[in-house]
Amino acid sequence: AAWLPSAAFRALGARDVLVHGDGTLVDTVLDEVTRACARHGGRVWHSPPWDVDADLVLASRTAGPVANAAAEAARLGATPAVDGTGDGSLGEEGFLLARVDGVTVVLADAPAGLLYGLFHVVRLGAAAFDDDRPPRRHQPALARRILDHWDNVAVHPVSGQVERGYAGGSVFWRDGAARREPERLRDYGRLLAACGVNAVTVNNVNVHDTEARLLTDRLGDVAEIADALRPYGIRVHLSVTFAAPMVLGGLPTADPLDGRVRAWWAEATGRVYRRIPDFGGYLVKADSEGRPGPFAYGRDHADGANLLAGALAPHGGVVRWRAFVYDHRQDWRDRSTDRARAAHDHFAPLDGRFRDDVVLQVKFGPLDFQTREPVSPVLAAMPATRLALEVQATQEYTGQQRHVCHLGPWWSEVLRFAPWGPAGDTVADVVAAGGLVAVANVGDDPFWTGHPLAQANLYAAGRLAWDPRLDPGAILDEWIELTWLPVTTGDPELVRRTLHAIMDDSWRTYERYTAPLGVGFMVRPGHHYGPDVDGYEYTPWGTYHFADRDGVGVDRTRATGTGFTGQYPSPWSEVYESRRRCPDELLLFFHHVPYGHVLHSGRTVIQHIYDTHFAGVAEVAAMRERWRSLAGALDPAVHDRVAERLDEQFRCAVEWRDQVNTYFFRKSGVPDAHGRRIH
Ligand code: GCU
Repeated sequence: AAWLPSAAFRALGARDVLVHGDGTLVDTVLDEVTRACARHGGRVWHSPPWDVDADLVLASRTAGPVANAAAEAARLGATPAVDGTGDGSLGEEGFLLARVDGVTVVLADAPAGLLYGLFHVVRLGAAAFDDDRPPRRHQPALARRILDHWDNVAVHPVSGQVERGYAGGSVFWRDGAARREPERLRDYGRLLAACGVNAVTVNNVNVHDTEARLLTDRLGDVAEIADALRPYGIRVHLSVTFAAPMVLGGLPTADPLDGRVRAWWAEATGRVYRRIPDFGGYLVKADSEGRPGPFAYGRDHADGANLLAGALAPHGGVVRWRAFVYDHRQDWRDRSTDRARAAHDHFAPLDGRFRDDVVLQVKFGPLDFQTREPVSPVLAAMPATRLALEVQATQEYTGQQRHVCHLGPWWSEVLRFAPWGPAGDTVADVVAAGGLVAVANVGDDPFWTGHPLAQANLYAAGRLAWDPRLDPGAILDEWIELTWLPVTTGDPELVRRTLHAIMDDSWRTYERYTAPLGVGFMVRPGHHYGPDVDGYEYTPWGTYHFADRDGVGVDRTRATGTGFTGQYPSPWSEVYESRRRCPDELLLFFHHVPYGHVLHSGRTVIQHIYDTHFAGVAEVAAMRERWRSLAGALDPAVHDRVAERLDEQFRCAVEWRDQVNTYFFRKSGVPDAHGRRIH
């Protein structure tokens, strides 16, 4: 399924393979290799014996002496010179891939490395056996590569089974109970391991009553999920409610500085670890959108996070505390409050107050997973705090898995962003210890993600977490090569080219036909699908565009606006402050400008709005044509599903174009320079 059809194992499975090592993860490797060889005619040995003539050796160095090619590779692997970096150690998850005397060797220090090495060989296909392949050490840049499922155990009256889920029901839960489908979970774990993910959170950040009990009397359900995912190196995390000592423990308070509260968390956490020894930790949304938190007791976020970190630390777990905190009951008339400022206002002053083992989880932008936002200034403001970056694979604001919107390029841009200027660290450097977290886009849908092409976002999240420097186009190519080329009934190069043509730029296409120039939102309130330019304009949510007859955009400057630009370090603080220097794509995020303001592109803002909206729709029409050309080359069920979604994407893009263009034409009275039809 997805990016591991059995045909993707052909090159490996047709060869003679020696697996060396012991333990659960090595058993998984052995099982994978055994199945591949059974299908494609190769042979497999679990060492000893040593003296077999294998084409591929997968060996764990800690499992005792290795022989022949593997010994040679071990010697290579111990040498820093192998790729000119480091001390030669491979770490908990790393591996060395080398070609030695006609044998391909994957060497790891720990079993997880062997598993990742195996999937790397699968990715390379026949190329893994090229004699001129130079030895290379592979290690994840980020230790934590996590998917957060916003899954509810019980169907919630507002958010359903999966909050912001667009791929059917939950893979874990159904109608208030665990699904108990270990086979499906194992398949899921396998897909995740193959793209580098090593942890999942099994329930929604908004923890409702039933879900709160996963921590206590329903812990057995979590343990079963952990058992199913463990063979693929996936650790399980739990979203917990800060009020747990009250709602579950019957205490009169959840005050983080109260001894009874501390004792309750220590006790509850101890029980979790007795049941799930490799449990990953807790995820907490506190004092955010009405969730309980430390504010009720006059305490702050550091007090809250430190409490939970203290309970988890003895067992090796971490708390991830979310920085998504803002006033969701704002008066739209109040121009002094700026939601974009909120996370920095709340958290930057707390830098240094969090325990070392707390991870503060920060949404990539200051608002809320918009198609375009500046990178959150919190990421540059807390050098003494471990930070994780949160992105949304589930396409809440990017077409809800009815639109093709490949997000790899967007996340890559965020990870490569250098908050202190080109010579300084990047966001990827900042989150090296905290990790990359993607809100999952997976459900019980036969294609896993509703839109079959949305699988690419899941794949990209894992791969970018493993190596944020990877080129997103190359990641997409890997995904195409693993997922589609082994199973196509047509010309593989045509399939590859067509999928690239449809997907490479699809995020920018989506941007073109939706809210312009970084202003965000303009979606239908509540479900967030489709256009509604003024839908959020007079609401308490703090998401406004301030369009009037003269201009549009949010003045967030220090000079005349909310002062948000001052939350950035130099040079961005000055770049964003300046109308002239601000990048076009973020202009309306930072500035309120007249419709006639001329962009760097040479066009006026109003003409840019018209042009991009016409262009975006034309691009969707072209996507749909391209997809038609693949009929016959792909499984008809997949082809039909995507075709049907492209029809909806086209309909919706037209609606976006017409509402946005009409709205701004009516406001501004400025006609389209090209005389196209505006309603
Ligand atoms: C968004 C989303 C909510 C979610 C929230 C969060 O606002 O619409 O469904 O709960 O983010 O990240 O906590």
